[in-house]
Amino acid sequence: MKCFSFLLIIIFTDGVVSKKVCNYMDVLDYLNLTKDNNAFKLTRPVLDYTHPTIVELDILLYAILAVIEKTQTFIPFIWATLKWNHERISWDPAQFCGISQVAIPRDMLWKPDLFIYEMIEKDDSPLNPYILLASDGSVYSEEDMRVVSTCKMDVHKFPFDTQKCNITIGSAIHCVNEMRIFPCSNSSRATQFSREVMKTQGEWEFLQLSVSSTNITFSGRKWEHLIYTFTMKRRPLLHVINFLLPILFFLFLDIASFFIADHRGEKLGFKVTVLLAISVLLLILNDILPSMSNKTPLIATYCIVIFALMLLSLLETILVTYLIDKDSVCQEKFRLKEDKKEEVKTPNCKMEVKRPTCCSCTFKVSAGGKQHELLPVAEEVNSISQSGDSHLLLSILAELKEMQHTVNVRLNCRTEGGKFVLWAARINRAFFIFYISTVSLFLLLIFVEWHI
Ligand SMILES: *[C@@H]1O[C@H](CO)[C@@H](O)[C@H](O)[C@H]1NC(C)=O
Ligand SMILES: *[C@@H]1O[C@H](CO)[C@@H](O)[C@H](O)[C@H]1NC(C)=O
Repeated sequence: MKCFSFLLIIIFTDGVVSKKVCNYMDVLDYLNLTKDNNAFKLTRPVLDYTHPTIVELDILLYAILAVIEKTQTFIPFIWATLKWNHERISWDPAQFCGISQVAIPRDMLWKPDLFIYEMIEKDDSPLNPYILLASDGSVYSEEDMRVVSTCKMDVHKFPFDTQKCNITIGSAIHCVNEMRIFPCSNSSRATQFSREVMKTQGEWEFLQLSVSSTNITFSGRKWEHLIYTFTMKRRPLLHVINFLLPILFFLFLDIASFFIADHRGEKLGFKVTVLLAISVLLLILNDILPSMSNKTPLIATYCIVIFALMLLSLLETILVTYLIDKDSVCQEKFRLKEDKKEEVKTPNCKMEVKRPTCCSCTFKVSAGGKQHELLPVAEEVNSISQSGDSHLLLSILAELKEMQHTVNVRLNCRTEGGKFVLWAARINRAFFIFYISTVSLFLLLIFVEWHI
């Protein structure tokens, strides 16, 4: 009796304390969903094979990891959500203490075979190991993916460019009457969500994510594809500071070098240095831009035209320096002539000791030569040079003659060389005006083109 009542108590307390306890295994047991049960993963999960499986897809952009113009590669980090219906699965949550969804390992169920057409490298980031199973048979799968995709980029306006890259998602083998793909959120929602979750933006400013659907027909079968288009705009500041401005500065330096004096070759050296600096910058450009492009990038035009202008100004400087040099060669000749005369004079003078006599000697030498008719007065003075102070007069006369000769030679040289200097100055002025106008016109045009 005692024993019986004890049993009753146990039954009684059990009834009060134990509510019904459920766990996820109950659900899986009910569904017969085990690792070994292939019925859930072998075939497309429909009860009637003519039913297409409807896959709802949602893609958000987490980050733009890289956009590489040189190799035309676009690497976004995306977050993809998939939802489809497994028609063999359903349970009543009320029977299982309200359990409405179960997370199960990814490989226990059939999954749609979606893949990204532009992907050129297998994604090695770890997959989320679970998928979510809801009581009505919906299956949710989430994936974070680093997508290395090709993207045809137009670098015409680099670095003020906007790029559009596509990610096309479709089934590999199921055509449109077996699998339909729909975007879960439309373009504006996807753009807004992406803006909210965007982690890093770096060089690129994300503008828009739009989605569209197309059908691809291939050998009589039709596949449905979703195309996600990412639009982003480059932040040009780095390239402007690194590249455009330095080249512009060098151009200004080149213009400023017009105010350096032409002779002695300093200007030439300066211009060559500036030109070399630009060619170093051009090497950087080679690293950034793809070697082939259907439309010449504006930045290449910018560099080449500035380079050509500076080359032209260097050539002009060479020409002007050449002209001026020609002039100084004449002066050099004149100086040599002078030196020779000195040499001729000195042996005669050496014998005399007194300076006035030396001068008179000089005079005699000259007077005997072709200078004779230039100063006919000399003869007269010579004839009356017996008196003592006439010596002084004679020496003055001699000096004058010498000066006249010098001036004559120098004037000859001037009129000949002066022509070159004059031409050099003219060329300089004309080229400066041409240079300034060309540079300003070109800069204006190219910046307008860049801005449009
Ligand atoms: C589960 O599988 C067992 C055999 O493995 C079978 O007897 C049972 O009927 C199945 N239950 C359901 C609900 O399919
Ligand atoms: C693709 O084909 C399906 C089925 O034929 C059709 O319903 C859908 O409108 C088509 N989509 C486009 C973008 O043509």
